[in-house]
Amino acid sequence: MSFSPLPDILQSDLARLRGAAVLELGAADGRFTRALREAGVDVVPLDRRRPVPSGGVVADARALPVRPGAVRLIAAANLLQHLGRITDVAAALGEWVGCLAPDGCLHILQDDPLADTPARRNDRELRDWLARLVPTRGRLPALTDLREALAGSGGTSGWSFGRELNRTAPPDRERALALLRGDGGVPDRATAALAAAIARDGLDYGWYWWARWRGGTAP
Ligand SMILES: C[S@@+](CC[C@H](N)C(=O)[O-])C[C@H]1O[C@@H](n2cnc3c(N)ncnc32)[C@H](O)[C@@H]1O
Repeated sequence: MSFSPLPDILQSDLARLRGAAVLELGAADGRFTRALREAGVDVVPLDRRRPVPSGGVVADARALPVRPGAVRLIAAANLLQHLGRITDVAAALGEWVGCLAPDGCLHILQDDPLADTPARRNDRELRDWLARLVPTRGRLPALTDLREALAGSGGTSGWSFGRELNRTAPPDRERALALLRGDGGVPDRATAALAAAIARDGLDYGWYWWARWRGGTAP
């Protein structure tokens, strides 16, 4: 998915680093890659699974094939729910920070699990439904979860945090319904209820949160 608008703090880091190479972790189909490229940076997308967007590499974000200090900006959107427990996530963030150049920064963007309208609730319930289906995928972490994990592992110095409303066009309702219908067999009660709610109220991305680390001369 995409995040629109990008946080001001990410836009200003991208403008500051125009021309520098940016490493994007968990790039998937490349929608977030495109948003970064539109901001004028040279993005290397990375994902553990093929296909990766053009110019990309296949690698595990938990063991980056990058020299310490080699990258000026690392970005990861909706990746954390794939990295295990929140304490493991905090450890991975520490490793990513270690790959950054002295003026470098790390940007995390994540859909917020909290939802305040029926369409936003449907979207988050669909993610939970997918998380139950795919064992390597966890539930969306909340910003408070990350802040607590960071506080417990090295602290939150250098970090800033925020929340934005994602104004990207809503996900396709028919595609979601086809996914829930699956092979056409009889759905369990929870799946049938979710499909009915989506058919009635649709889907909406809603809120996302961001976390940004910058060392040295932050902000
Ligand atoms: C929910 S998608 C995020 C897509 C994209 N960043 C966006 O926001 O549109 C998560 C992606 O992370 C990838 N992924 C999961 N665990 C990973 C890991 N350990 N290393 C690299 N990529 C990983 C998955 O293969 C998947 O493509």
